[in-house]
Formats: sequence, structure tokens, C-alpha cells
Amino acid sequence: MAGEKADVVMFGPKPIIEEALVKGGMQLHKAWAAPDQEAFIASIAPKVRAIAAVAGHGPVDAAIMGRFPRLEIVSSFGVGYDHIDAKWAGEHGIIVTNTPDVLNEEVADTALGLLLSTVRHLPQAERYLRSGQWEKHGDYQLTPSLRDRTAGIVGMGRIGKAIARRLDAMQVPVVYHSRRPADVPYKHYPNILDMARDVNLMIVITPGGAATKNLVNADVLKALGSEGILINVARGSVVDEAALIQALKDKTILTAGLDVYVNEPKVPQELIEMENVVLLPHVGSASHATRRAMDELVANNIISWFAGKGPITPVAETPVKK
Ligand code: 8YV
Repeated sequence: MAGEKADVVMFGPKPIIEEALVKGGMQLHKAWAAPDQEAFIASIAPKVRAIAAVAGHGPVDAAIMGRFPRLEIVSSFGVGYDHIDAKWAGEHGIIVTNTPDVLNEEVADTALGLLLSTVRHLPQAERYLRSGQWEKHGDYQLTPSLRDRTAGIVGMGRIGKAIARRLDAMQVPVVYHSRRPADVPYKHYPNILDMARDVNLMIVITPGGAATKNLVNADVLKALGSEGILINVARGSVVDEAALIQALKDKTILTAGLDVYVNEPKVPQELIEMENVVLLPHVGSASHATRRAMDELVANNIISWFAGKGPITPVAETPVKK
């Protein structure tokens, strides 16, 4: 198997991945570029052995994977892979890989930027200056503070730990909720509601998918309380978006900073109209350097697999066939 030119399909453009796959000796099929995509997929299906997948190119579900009888590996862009049916893949002997680690520090940086922006109104204060109001009306209003807060992190994986390290340096006490305790010195809450009662800042960085859908619901927001701040850099699906909008309207919580939404790139108009929330367009990992590292890892997982060296970063659900 080693050295054979393997057929790889992509469903949308991603130039660095494309270049790296071709350079790595793969036969790349650009399904999105075909005038009749359906006919094109049907024509290549018998020989395709790998998919290079990006969330924005559409979900990779059983129906898609089932079209390729020789499929061995789905290499996905992003640490989150809720757009891939990894369970089905695992049950059918197909490997799924993601791009962990290379984005940890970048996403943690973004999370802290979003947190500070939200607590200290940095985007609003900048808008105040730019619109000439400083000169006209004097100093910008005083803001809430990070100083009197305990951060409850939802999810203590690799990025959660990188966020916690930054909060340590900023002298913000950290506690966390996850299904199982992690090897960290912070207090663990098996129950998110108990943690929400004890903190006034919640930072969500847990995988998306069915297991965490609406984990942060109306009850959790109520427990977070009227001084509570919610930061979400995970997946929109982890927070009940309608309940969050209601909680912000009712002042059940103080404010929120969001990088992710249920139906991206659509953001509810009600959120857009709230001056006190900070909204980023899913930019957690979006620097040139980090996105390049993620792109290269997508290609390298496929190249490594077909070189007989196994996948570099397989996800937990899938069998590793060496
Ligand atoms: C990407 C992410 O923006 O890695 C993830 O899970 O959310 C981001 O780094 C996303 O995967 C884009 O498709």
C-alpha cells in the first residue's frame, strides 16, 4: 500500500490543503469544481480512499461516506468534528482525524481577548471614541471588572487548560465542569448547575455534538445570576441560544461574549441589536500561522496513512488500522 497514489476527494476549496495533498503524492479530486457534482462524485466513488473535510464544505454523514466503498480515512479540519459522523465511521472501519493541539494557544488567546472585551467593554469603548463621543460627552462609562470573579470553565481539555493557565497569570480563580475530572489543580464540579451557582463567569470550551447540546440552558443561566458573564468559544450548540437571548433581555445574566452560534454564519438579529454583548465571527483559530498548521495537519494525516505510518491525530471513536 505504501507509495501508491491514493485518490482523495474534497468538497470545497482550501488551497493549502490542496497543495499539500498534491505535493504529498495524492490524486486530488475537486468535487466542487465539477459542473455536475453528483455525476462527478458517482464517477470517482469506486476509487476514492480518503476525504479531506472542512465544516464549511458540508457535513460528512453516513450518506456521504456510504457512497465511497473503498473509503479508509476522513481527515477533518478543526479540532471539533461534530460535522462528521465519527461513530458511523468507526463502526465501518473508517478512520477520522482532526487537528488538535496546533490551535490550543491561538484559541485560548482569542478566548481571553473576547473575555476582556466583554467585561471591560473594549469594542464599545472604541466605538465611543471613533464616533466622536469622547470629545463631545466626556469619559466612557465605568465597566464591570474581572477582578471580583471566579471563572467556571466548561470543558477542561487541551484548550480549557490553556485558558486556565492564562487566568492563573491574571489571578482569576478557576474551577471547572467536565464529565470526568482532569489532571488539574482546580476544583471539579460533576454538575454544571452546581458550578453555575458558585461562579459569576462561565467560559465554554467543550466539544459540540449530541452529548453537549444545550448543556448551558435556562436553568444554568439563571444560576449564573445577574452579575454573570457567559463566554462561548466552543460550539453554538452547547448553549441554548433562545434561552441565552431571553436571559440577556431579562437581565437574568449581565452579558455575553460569543465566537460561535447555532446556525453560522447567521447570527440572531436580537443579539446583533444588543449593544452590551460582544460578537465575533468564529475567529478562535483564525490566524495565518495557526490555520496553516491546521491545513498541513489535515493533509499530513492522509499522507501518513497512505505511507503506511498510521494516522497522526485520530479521534477517539475510530479504530486505528496500521
Ligand atoms: C475552525 C474550530 O474555525 O477547530 C475548531 O473546531 O472551531 C475552528 O478552529 C472551524 O473548524 C472552521 O471550520
